[in-house]
Amino acid sequence: MQFSTIAQAFAWGCREIDKIDARLLLQHVLNIDHAVLLTYPDRLLTSQQASEYSQLVVQRINGRPVAYLIGKREFYDLTLKVTEAVLIPRPETEILVEWALRLIPVDQPCKVLDLGTGSGAIAITIAKHRPQARVVAVDLSADAIAVCQQNVENLQINNLYLISGNWFDELSQARFDLIVSNPPYVAENDPHLQQGDLRFEPQLALSSGNNGLACISHIIGLAPNHLVQSGWLLLEHGYDQAGECKRLFANAGFSNICSYPDLAGIMRVSGGQMNTSM
Ligand SMILES: C[S@@+](CC[C@H](N)C(=O)[O-])C[C@H]1O[C@@H](n2cnc3c(N)ncnc32)[C@H](O)[C@@H]1O
Repeated sequence: MQFSTIAQAFAWGCREIDKIDARLLLQHVLNIDHAVLLTYPDRLLTSQQASEYSQLVVQRINGRPVAYLIGKREFYDLTLKVTEAVLIPRPETEILVEWALRLIPVDQPCKVLDLGTGSGAIAITIAKHRPQARVVAVDLSADAIAVCQQNVENLQINNLYLISGNWFDELSQARFDLIVSNPPYVAENDPHLQQGDLRFEPQLALSSGNNGLACISHIIGLAPNHLVQSGWLLLEHGYDQAGECKRLFANAGFSNICSYPDLAGIMRVSGGQMNTSM
């Protein structure tokens, strides 16, 4: 082994992979936080720790995402368990969460539906920050539902109800004040699916037919049957899909349609309100 102390292990990792990735892997193996890592550079690794760390670095060199290697990812102000059954929560999804939190009253009951919940990133964050809300979270993947359930328990969420099923199919006539979704929206033939972290994430979470718009179009088309009067639908979408999403919202009878950009100024979340004049 080329290293025996924390400082040597970190320096080796930084030569092989991204510095933040090396730090997260080392913290994971040693079960320490960033402050301890900085404070004790001369602490010795056991041979088992050194071996585990070097194996994780090799897996990272081979492309496996750090979140899957350490089994967790920070999202908004929470730490979520993730496995290869769920999409790794992304920073742009926090834009959708912030918009949702602005729409949900702090001190009144509100019914919220999250379609395609995955790890539960959106649903759990909303449930945590709006304890008066009742949040229903749906996913087609039983394995994703199991991960979300684990996060619900770990974070002691008691206002979230998980449903296994296809989009609205299991919801009967239920109506909600707010529907949110980060559905699959990458075109099935998009070469990015074969590159970087996406290679390791579930295809069910990523790709959608009709040039990436099939799930979005399905959700927008059926949402009016499940929204109360003046209810909102908010969707995350691809970097080039805002225009088409807004057209689909308008065709489905939504008003107050607008989009919000990510930090790069690209529209990534669009939403609309059910006709307010009824
Ligand atoms: C892009 S991921 C979003 C995960 C999570 N909401 C997030 O933002 O990190 C899309 C999710 O939709 C789920 N999904 C795909 N097709 C579905 C369907 N027909 N019905 C319900 N969920 C579906 C996938 O299993 C996946 O968890």
